[in-house]
Amino acid sequence: MDLEKLLADRLTPAFAAVAGGPVAPAVRRSAHADYQSDAALALARRLGRPPREIAAEVLGRAVLGDLCAAAEVSGPGFINLTVADQALGAAVAGLVGDPRLGVPRVAEPETVLIDYSAPNVAKEMHVGHLRSTIIGDATARLLGWRGHRVIRANHLGDWGTPFGMLIEHLLDLGEADGAAELSVGDLDSFYRTARAKFDADEGFRARSRLRVVALQSGDERTVRLWRLLVGRSEGYFLGVYQALDVTLTERDFQGESRYQPMLGPVVEELDRLGLLRDSDGAACVFPPGSVGRDGDPLPLIVRKRDGGYGYPATDLAALRYRTGELGATRLLYVVGLPQRRHFEMVFAVAASAGWLPGAARAEHVGFGSVLGADGRMLRSRAGAPVKLADLLDEAVARATALARRKNPGLDAAEVAEVGRAVGIGAVKYADLATDRHRDYVFDWDRMLSLDGNTAPYLQYAYARIRSLFRRAGADGLPAAVEAVRVPLADPAERALVFALLGFAPVVVEVERTLEFHQLAGHLHRVAATFSAFYERCPVLRAEGAVREGRLMLCGLTARVLRQGLDLLGIRTPERM
Ligand code: ARG
Repeated sequence: MDLEKLLADRLTPAFAAVAGGPVAPAVRRSAHADYQSDAALALARRLGRPPREIAAEVLGRAVLGDLCAAAEVSGPGFINLTVADQALGAAVAGLVGDPRLGVPRVAEPETVLIDYSAPNVAKEMHVGHLRSTIIGDATARLLGWRGHRVIRANHLGDWGTPFGMLIEHLLDLGEADGAAELSVGDLDSFYRTARAKFDADEGFRARSRLRVVALQSGDERTVRLWRLLVGRSEGYFLGVYQALDVTLTERDFQGESRYQPMLGPVVEELDRLGLLRDSDGAACVFPPGSVGRDGDPLPLIVRKRDGGYGYPATDLAALRYRTGELGATRLLYVVGLPQRRHFEMVFAVAASAGWLPGAARAEHVGFGSVLGADGRMLRSRAGAPVKLADLLDEAVARATALARRKNPGLDAAEVAEVGRAVGIGAVKYADLATDRHRDYVFDWDRMLSLDGNTAPYLQYAYARIRSLFRRAGADGLPAAVEAVRVPLADPAERALVFALLGFAPVVVEVERTLEFHQLAGHLHRVAATFSAFYERCPVLRAEGAVREGRLMLCGLTARVLRQGLDLLGIRTPERM
């Protein structure tokens, strides 16, 4: 039962009667009352009446008696609502008895395709891929938990002209040595050396070009070498996914190569639809609304002058396949903001071509950059791009040291488990807790801090509650939950109850916006509110019904933290 919605439902008809038409009642949590509506203020201009008068009339008409202990006009025309203890108790009891903590499964599941991670073969994943992987995985978890059919599409960069030089370089090194270099993750040096030879050596360049042709025409040996390159890189990426605790598996690789046979037909279809135009020998589509800085229309190049297809054509083919063959109706592209224009154009062309039929829609889930302490793109000390695997190793090493320092009572296995959960959790949380549209500074000390809006803070709050239960000698909640009275006498108890009830609406909101910092922020509020409660309200030292009631709130807090962090892809160790 969502109190906010319940209250809004009661105010809606009253507002409609007063305004003579539908009005959103704008009920929100507030510092001044349990809930507050400012809808009368917005309405005043429209109706040409004093807001306080409107608010009073709405309250005169609304049926709130069973839900509210007080409902009054305040200030310039706010409606302040104080929820009745009985209604609040009933709402909490509903949560306690609900394994889904008030978050229902969606009534009408959709097929959602999430395009994320998408590193490039024989190249190190960079921090941009890290963000995509973290945000995309949280998306997959949350939408899956809501009951949608989720398709994880790892749009691996596994095709294109660079494979000519990569395969030739592999042959120069010898298959075995080259493959070994790739499987240990020495991707960048492999790529860089190939590139350097390509730039410096005319013979190598010529061989590489022939090799591209051989690959495209399906030459058996070339294809086998290509598979070797792809396979070794995939293996390396899977290792990173495992370290990162993300849900991507080998089944989710849906690389660019998959769409090669579809590129010709896609361009033909665009031509049949009359959408193609020639520009300097290249086949282009000019999506409506796409103009450059100078006001000229911007083309999406679908076939280059040399007859080759590039990144845009592949994305068009993939999109058509995803709606047409896979039946996806919500397509999410978790890719950095620099590619925003690209996706706007791809989506516009797809819409004109009829590849987004009916309810189908595509969204670019964009994100900003990860910066170093100097405010520039994150680099290693040597100035090279940061190697993801090294970054994660460092996270775990730092968190392991922290765990050992913080709790000398943990045995070696526990220290290792906590170090991993906290280190990886800290990296993921730092990413998810900032508005994804913004850049953020990668800062070890801040992300590993035990207070503040951090993973360790939330994980610690969870572990603390679990330890409380161990001391209480009860592993879960009191047996007959229905009989437990929800304690509401102390303001800290009420505040905690509201925070717990606020979990469900946030999850539902984030399902739509994919703004995970809202969920992170809410979990932080839950933990902080819990902390305040725990300081003021003794639990184990309380007695009888109060003790049971408070234990119940503790148990519910732990469940909300655990579920919420799980949606973000973050573990909750039982001890810390
Ligand atoms: N491989 C690309 C890159 O590294 C990202 C691909 C994103 N997904 C897509 N459908 N274009 O930039």
